[in-house]
Amino acid sequence: MLHPKIENALNAQLAREAAASSNYLAMAVWCDQQSLDGCARFFYRQSDEERMHMMKILHYLIECNAAAEVPGLQKPAAAFPNVQQVFHAALEQEQAVTRSINELVELAQECSDHSTQHFLQWYVGEQREEEATVTKILDRIRLIGDGSMSLYYIDSEVEKINAQVLASETEA
Ligand SMILES: [Fe+2]
Ligand SMILES: [Fe+2]
Repeated sequence: MLHPKIENALNAQLAREAAASSNYLAMAVWCDQQSLDGCARFFYRQSDEERMHMMKILHYLIECNAAAEVPGLQKPAAAFPNVQQVFHAALEQEQAVTRSINELVELAQECSDHSTQHFLQWYVGEQREEEATVTKILDRIRLIGDGSMSLYYIDSEVEKINAQVLASETEA
C-alpha cells in the first residue's frame, strides 16, 4: 500500500511528465516548421521519452495497487521567438522536473517508503543526463553566436548530439 501522500505526489509527477511530453512535441513542431530538422528530431525524441517517463509511473502505481489518473493536457506554448529560446524553455522545464523529483524522493524518505525511493532513483539519474544534454546544446549555441549561418550550425550541432545520445543508449 502506498501512503496517500505518495500516491498523490506520484500522480502529480505523472501529469508533469505528460505535460513535458506535450511541450516537447510543440517545440518539435515549431522546429520542424522552421526546417531545423536536427532540432525537430531532438524534440520529437524528447517528447517520446517523457511519455515513457509518464508510463513508467503509471505502471508503478498500478503495480502498487494505487490510483493512477490519466491527466488532462493543457495546450502547450506553440510559438517561440527563436530556437535559442526553445532550448532555454527546455532547460527550465527539466530543472523544474528535477526539483519535483527531488521533492518526491524526500517525501518517500519521510514516509520510509523504500520501494518508491528505489523506483525514483532511475528518475534522479535521468534528470541529471537530460539537464546535461540541454546545457551542452545551450553552450554550443552560445559558442556559435548569432552570425548569418548560425541556425545552420546550431541545427548541425544538435544533430551531432542526437547521434551521440543514440549511440550512448545503444551501448547501455
Ligand atoms: Fe521526464
Ligand atoms: Fe525530461
